[in-house]
Amino acid sequence: MTDSARTDYEFPQDFLWGTATASYQIEGAVHARGRGPSIWDTFSHTPGKVLLGQTGDIACDHFHRFGEDVRLMADLGLAAYRFSIAWPRVFPAKGEYLKSGFDFYKRLIESLQAHNIKPMATLYHWDLPQWLEDEGGWSNRDTVERYLEFADAAFEELGDGVVQWITHNEPWCASMLGYGMGQHAPGLTDWRRAYRAAHHLLLSHGRAVQHFRTLGLLADIGITLNLTPAYPATDSPEDQAAAHRQDTFSNRWFLNPVFKGQYPETFIDEVGRQIGGIDFIEPGDMDTIASPLDFLGINFYSRSVVRNNPNHSLLGVEQVKTDSPVTDMGWEVDSDALYHLLKRIQAEYTNLPLYITENGAAVADTVVDGKVDDPDRIAYVAEHLAAAHRFVAEGGNLKGYFLWSLLDNFEWALGYTKRFGIVYVDYETLERIPKSSYHWYKGVIANRGISIPAKLR
Ligand code: FCB
Repeated sequence: MTDSARTDYEFPQDFLWGTATASYQIEGAVHARGRGPSIWDTFSHTPGKVLLGQTGDIACDHFHRFGEDVRLMADLGLAAYRFSIAWPRVFPAKGEYLKSGFDFYKRLIESLQAHNIKPMATLYHWDLPQWLEDEGGWSNRDTVERYLEFADAAFEELGDGVVQWITHNEPWCASMLGYGMGQHAPGLTDWRRAYRAAHHLLLSHGRAVQHFRTLGLLADIGITLNLTPAYPATDSPEDQAAAHRQDTFSNRWFLNPVFKGQYPETFIDEVGRQIGGIDFIEPGDMDTIASPLDFLGINFYSRSVVRNNPNHSLLGVEQVKTDSPVTDMGWEVDSDALYHLLKRIQAEYTNLPLYITENGAAVADTVVDGKVDDPDRIAYVAEHLAAAHRFVAEGGNLKGYFLWSLLDNFEWALGYTKRFGIVYVDYETLERIPKSSYHWYKGVIANRGISIPAKLR
């Protein structure tokens, strides 16, 4: 087969085609209807934390413009839409429950249902109410109880409409980037608190799953992990060991508790030494964390290539740049890594249905004559869909793909400087302009698959 030959990659009839977003990244309306501040409001308003001092105050103003956004989804032919619920809209201050904070999500869900789009809701996509951070945030075990109140209220209020629940989005980022590396809210650099936060995030996940099971709702529940496979820069035993440490830190620290009910044995002593002892695991915690799920959500963007460097970072691991192409985030494009990751998850962890709950590319898009042409994003998504298809064709239990993201949005510490959307957002006018990737994805959904040059295979 030559490079120019076309290959069809057709997905099963029931494969769920989606897009994903998150509340703080798109909603804006941060003071609307009694919403309280979240750690991301505080963080983004702290000088020096977010590029160009940008904040989510207005973002895409999705809170007021969701009708237009749902129409864009409907035109796309989406089967499912993943969004998150802003906790500070419903628990704005200590001791305050604002049931009407769910009204926006009820209207959103109704509108999705009217267009036959399945709502997938993430309970926590990083916007912790600031009042909870003031009491220690995720490093305080009591936050688990507060999360449970939030989850219970959400199940009660939105339980009729949401088809799939995700307890947490990327607890690695929420804990390690937020409490250890200081790059995300709340911006702390305290590894002791980071590991405690990670444990409490996982524990709150397990508790929410257990509670959910008692309610008899006709919906599924799972968790979304960001998984970044680590590859050694060379075959040397030192680099291989470094890749193993990196893998343990970024992937196994979360996968093992969720699916095996224990932290990785080879690393827990090391972590204990680094943070002066592990004193946060109470009897029963690990069983709770490993409560059976209905699916696993995987966010995949890139792999990491590492070498051993004892003087570098707590792990003694240094990231290495390769010659492969990168996206506007500087993240290497390697869709083979996605295929191998899916195989590994199935072989080592679970046969549960898997969903790619995020995958996509940042591209430095510009508007030319009222149009945005983004062939690099199309190539990225096509390549990753081909990798996903290979897994499915071999019998892999992958049930859906959620492209990150529907809209350009607030990319955390990088503000609005990185664009991930298949719809361009003009942040001055808030006008939405579907990019060429939007029209391309529409065709993918309509055809339940892709036709791409075989070389991308
Ligand atoms: C993931 C986040 C998501 C988005 C993408 C680019 O880590 O879950 O909110 O920012 O990265």
